[in-house]
Amino acid sequence: MKKKLLDFIVCPNCFNNSFKLEASEINKLEIREGLIQCKKCSNKYDIEEGILDLLLNSTKVIENEQKGWNNLKNAITNSDELMLSLPDARGPYRKYWIGQAENFHYIFSRLDLTGEETVLDLGSGRCWSTRYFSKKGCYRIGLDILIPKYIGLRTSDIYIYKENTYFERVCSTMGKLPFKDALFDIVFIAATLHHSSRILKPLKEIYKVLKPDGRLVLINEPVRGLLRRGKACNPEIEAGINENIYLLPKYLMELKKAGFKSDLQFWLGGNNSLARFINKIFCRLIPQKYINKLLWKPLKYIQLFLFGGVLNLKAVKVDSKRVT
Ligand SMILES: C[S@@+](CC[C@H](N)C(=O)[O-])C[C@H]1O[C@@H](n2cnc3c(N)ncnc32)[C@H](O)[C@@H]1O
Ligand SMILES: [Zn+2]
Repeated sequence: MKKKLLDFIVCPNCFNNSFKLEASEINKLEIREGLIQCKKCSNKYDIEEGILDLLLNSTKVIENEQKGWNNLKNAITNSDELMLSLPDARGPYRKYWIGQAENFHYIFSRLDLTGEETVLDLGSGRCWSTRYFSKKGCYRIGLDILIPKYIGLRTSDIYIYKENTYFERVCSTMGKLPFKDALFDIVFIAATLHHSSRILKPLKEIYKVLKPDGRLVLINEPVRGLLRRGKACNPEIEAGINENIYLLPKYLMELKKAGFKSDLQFWLGGNNSLARFINKIFCRLIPQKYINKLLWKPLKYIQLFLFGGVLNLKAVKVDSKRVT
């Protein structure tokens, strides 16, 4: 953590924004070990291996999520090389990552970043995506409830020291974001919002921390199609992780309630090979400007609503009066 992070955060206990910093180990880049103490309520928050731990009053759901990811940790052979390759994993992990990588590169390349943006990577996990924003020059913070190396925030040292980059890491929850209001230009979320059982709550939190006209970018969120029958089943659900596969209208309605104007994007990567094929033709071969309104918009909605797939979406913060 660098000292500048103190300009961004609030105490998760009393929401005061003034802290006393005690650094016990500092290296060339950052404060590696130490603590911060809230000047109002005196609560102390640890800094360990550069990560600021602001997770206060953990819930049963968060504990189950942490346990579940820990249980799944050794289902793959973790290595620094694999982490450095993300999201473009090769070899045996390519199959799992290819869809996520395609969506990420497609949307990321369309964010038109100038490098001036302040970005929160919410549910950053290992922080592979946080370092992409870092390389564009943005001020960026990765936030997650998971700390262990290879599944959580401690993985970040691999990117920071082997790729010569830097970003902040904060342990906290999307249910209560420990930041001042109107700070971020972009909140980026990859495959994390659906880990909330009440998505309106994190969406309202995101709304608060975004600047006026700030953008929320959602990628790789699974969507259940209306025509899909049966209960979802995957290793994450079996491990006790809080996986919720919502219908498209659920996402869109909650975004609207929270005060966002949404713009649904095509998805390129996912399990439905026919939909992938169609979307790739639309995105890569047919010039968007000619048929966008007539064909693309309804196609995107109908496809996801009926058959499900992957939610890629850009939303803009619009109306402050809607937030209660
Ligand atoms: C499928 S992973 C995605 C991680 C990363 N964004 C990626 O694309 O690889 C879901 C992430 O959501 C995080 N998560 C779950 N509940 C959370 C919460 N309440 N607040 C913040 N992050 C949470 C998990 O710890 C996990 O890292
Ligand atoms: Zn406090």
